Amino acid sequence: MTEKIYIFDTTLRDGEQSPGASMNLDEKLQIAEVLDSMKVDIIEAGFPIASNGDFEAVSEVSKHVKHSTIAGLARASFRDIDRAWEAVQYAKSPRIHTFIATSPLHMKYKLKKTEEEVLEAIKKTVSHARNLCDNIEWSCEDGGRSELEFLYQCIELAINSGASTINIPDTVGYTLPEEFGKIFKNVKNNVPNIDKAILSTHTHNDLGLATANNVAAIKQGARQVECTINGMGERAGNSSLEEIVMTLKVKKDLMPFHTDIKTESIMKASRLVSSITGFPVQPNKAIVGANAFAHEAGIHQDGMLKHAGTYEIMTPESIGLNKSSLVLGKHSGKHAFSEKLKELGYEVGDNALMELFGRFKDLADKKKEIFEEDLIALAEDRTSTYDEHIKFVSLEVNAGSVEKAEAKLKIEINDNLENIKINGNGPVDATFNAIKKLTNTEFKLKLYQVNAITAGTDAQGEVTVRLEDKDLSSQAKGSDPDIIVASAKAYINALNRLIFKKTKSIKENTASLKIEGV
Ligand code: KIV
Ligand code: ZN
Repeated sequence: MTEKIYIFDTTLRDGEQSPGASMNLDEKLQIAEVLDSMKVDIIEAGFPIASNGDFEAVSEVSKHVKHSTIAGLARASFRDIDRAWEAVQYAKSPRIHTFIATSPLHMKYKLKKTEEEVLEAIKKTVSHARNLCDNIEWSCEDGGRSELEFLYQCIELAINSGASTINIPDTVGYTLPEEFGKIFKNVKNNVPNIDKAILSTHTHNDLGLATANNVAAIKQGARQVECTINGMGERAGNSSLEEIVMTLKVKKDLMPFHTDIKTESIMKASRLVSSITGFPVQPNKAIVGANAFAHEAGIHQDGMLKHAGTYEIMTPESIGLNKSSLVLGKHSGKHAFSEKLKELGYEVGDNALMELFGRFKDLADKKKEIFEEDLIALAEDRTSTYDEHIKFVSLEVNAGSVEKAEAKLKIEINDNLENIKINGNGPVDATFNAIKKLTNTEFKLKLYQVNAITAGTDAQGEVTVRLEDKDLSSQAKGSDPDIIVASAKAYINALNRLIFKKTKSIKENTASLKIEGV
């Protein structure tokens, strides 16, 4: 029997800290449900003190999730810890995750605290948390750059004060695997009560070493790994769940560990997180990228036909990926369509099914062959949970090398039909000008990216758009066989999200003003 590695997923907390990736309550619940069903051991559902929205999301996730432990993050303050407990108390298995920085740089410049003051804060806050909840995780923020002797003292004190999980983060993604592994080895050898806690690793990908660092930490004694779906997270992101879980599965011969994760659900989780956040997965991303199981070179294709093991170290099926196949055509019926959607992980109600089926028929008229990827794009467009104040109706564009591009756009704004004819510097610019003019908005376009969903000149184009307004941003996708129409849909989806976020942030600011004013 191999030793178990606990999987702690922080997509809903550290992952949501990716700029532009914030999610609404419904979306967080959808992700939590998938994480729970794929047997993630601990779900970090958010940072309850951060906003009323975060608090509500952590409490709702706590109430809904059936199996996983639910953690809420808190700084080293009674107010943060009380708020985290208020939110996670509903969970079948609640956890408070509290942290304080322990590196000289963070203590001096950020906290403005001496080592003694940090030790005092650990003692007070961990004991306070332990009085509220049986399951306490304590993290030494910037652990990777902390001085070892001081780290030993902090960890010993945190355990004595009631922490049963000790998490050492490489907060800024600065360490090398060997260096990070050594910290765990030293902690194991030098903290006298370390056998009373589970050691945990939390890494960031600033140098592209996040997963390698987690592997090194496991080899030196970590038994909990913190990670996110698709490697979402602050700056360059966190170590990704799929990479660490599949590494442990594929390299069983060298590492005698296992996780309980149902790896066949990895693709479903990856697609869901990408569609909800609007963050596309890079094609060459390990495990879940579109090219992760694609073989281009003739010599590779020849090898694959003779024996899949020649160029594949794991099967696509092991992560829930069925080889891209022609699935439906224009003559397929509603039953076959609904069964295929179910197989891909999308359960939709009768009304949504009728609407999706209509859109599938339109697509099948434009495009000879419908692939799984096409159905996923259709389903994901429909499952958006943002109120669509603005709806795409139709678009005609004249463009080319002679005349200035002209877009004729019809959209609905709060159910009122609006239309406009406008010029631009090329078809995309004309289309975006039309949307801006009709909606009277002028947000910064920070990202515009086009991908083909499948092969062939009649393939659907998938466009990703990111819009920014001061400190808020939103990212969304749109798909259509016509890439200019896909661009319009992506822009409108991003606009709906940004409007939602702006409204939410105004409400939250008003609420917090009220709280401060009491
Ligand atoms: O990266 C980090 O240090 C964190 C902690 C809050 C665990 O995310
Ligand atoms: Zn982090």
